[in-house]
Amino acid sequence: MAKEVGDHVSGSASNSANGPVLVVDYGAQYAQLIARRVREAQVYSEVVPHDTPVAEIAARNPAAIVLSGGPSSVYADGAPQVDPELFNAGIPVFGICYGFQAMTAALGGTVEHTGTREYGRTEVSISGDGGRLHNDLPGHHPVWMSHGDSVSKAPEGFQVTAGTKDTPVAAFESVERRFAGVQYHPEVVHSPHGQEVLRRFLHEIAGIRPQWTTSSIVDDTITALREQIGDRRAICGLSGGVDSAVAAALVQRAVGEQLTCVFVDHGLLRAGERAQVERDFVAATGVRLVTIDAVDRFLAALAGVTDPEEKRKIIGREFIRVFEQAARDLQAEAGAAGEQIDFLVQGTLYPDVVESGGGSGAANIKSHHNVGGLPDDLQFSLVEPLRALFKDEVRRVGLELGLPETIVHRQPFPGPGLGIRIIGEVTAGRLETLRAADAIAREELTAAGLDRDIWQCPVVLLADVRSVGVQGDGRTYGHPVVLRPVSSEDAMTADWTRLPYDVLEQISTRITNEVSDVNRVTLDVTSKPPGTIEWE
Ligand code: XMP
Repeated sequence: MAKEVGDHVSGSASNSANGPVLVVDYGAQYAQLIARRVREAQVYSEVVPHDTPVAEIAARNPAAIVLSGGPSSVYADGAPQVDPELFNAGIPVFGICYGFQAMTAALGGTVEHTGTREYGRTEVSISGDGGRLHNDLPGHHPVWMSHGDSVSKAPEGFQVTAGTKDTPVAAFESVERRFAGVQYHPEVVHSPHGQEVLRRFLHEIAGIRPQWTTSSIVDDTITALREQIGDRRAICGLSGGVDSAVAAALVQRAVGEQLTCVFVDHGLLRAGERAQVERDFVAATGVRLVTIDAVDRFLAALAGVTDPEEKRKIIGREFIRVFEQAARDLQAEAGAAGEQIDFLVQGTLYPDVVESGGGSGAANIKSHHNVGGLPDDLQFSLVEPLRALFKDEVRRVGLELGLPETIVHRQPFPGPGLGIRIIGEVTAGRLETLRAADAIAREELTAAGLDRDIWQCPVVLLADVRSVGVQGDGRTYGHPVVLRPVSSEDAMTADWTRLPYDVLEQISTRITNEVSDVNRVTLDVTSKPPGTIEWE
């Protein structure tokens, strides 16, 4: 078989395929990360499931294929295999970890269960000149490994360019066929030269021109939005968060006044957030904004409610009602002008698309959980300008569009807002207390330069707890607040952040001095699991 495989002779020739790089997902957690790294090399990429037929892959005219790592042994029963036909399609292929082994097996090399496992940080040694991928890199350097089986013999015609103590074949390549692979994980930060190796595969072996840049994303998205929306009208609900803000800013750039944004102030936001939307976002984008002040309505609906699930349901329900009414009002206004609103803009991101199984180009689309289930008289087509983007790309697009840093780098904040950070009934007074404490914590973390080091730091008001304290000459009987600083990659798991004591001290001193009703500041030192990030 080997002789027919990949009869492309290319080397550094430019790649005329105009499709994406397809990252084939073998079920580990790494596929999305690899896709992000490919994009960091300025090449557009998408994730596809490993059972995607070769014909379907080839039909997308991919510029290259990356076979990701996976949990299995290539020889295990039911292990996902690589269809050898993939290597006859004239498409450059890069195998990583399991993908490297699967590629070896498909191309006639040998994968062995050696009994030695390598996990974690390992040193690779470059063999010979290092080939195209490892040439000029340090002769010994650290990489991240996670495998049981090993490649003991590369497929015929491949140059072996790196090995480790236990794995003689840790990297190979055939520049002529435009195939290469590595046993280690180049996509993780613990492989410091990994990104360069991936870049060399994409640019130098696969011959792909780096064209996926923030400005190209903005330009292409705006063109596509103009095509989709034409001269019709759209609305967008703003939450104060990054995604809806960037989605709205893109649509505003594309169709200007045809977009109206709706911002529902439910009174559960943090200090300054309404102003950020009303003043800073509008100033940066020129967007047409309607703010609905629904503070009293939400407070009335939440009166007497202490159960967290019930609070969430009430907040969700009221939000939909208020948004629907606003949409109806805008629809009526458009109707009076002989027009109608056809589109609803949503900030759906690429990871949501991958996780909900909707591949590229899947046209119609789950409704977003925040604005799901609009009634029959409000049927909009969805506009999802961020559907192909990862969060870091969304942030870069936001900055490119001139959005304020405070919005673009806002840390995650739950839709139900401070409503779920008050343990007990939500009242106007308690919201004011929590807002003040939260603002101090945020100010001090920002002043200490820690915003990018922590994932988020909920401040929680234990409104149903009181304890005795002493302040000035008097006894106090106030509430505790909890600081919940966490570090995380994706909020699925988290660890408590070891904040410097002096920062904690400053936050504690200021909160107890400046926020009446709060006489204790406590720190949550629970990881997730078993804790969650929010308290509720
Ligand atoms: P937990 O508390 O489940 O939170 O560990 C995980 C992440 O999700 C955020 N979160 C929400 N985000 N709507 C949102 O948009 C919500 O209802 C919601 N509840 C929790 C939370 O802040 C954390 O980042």
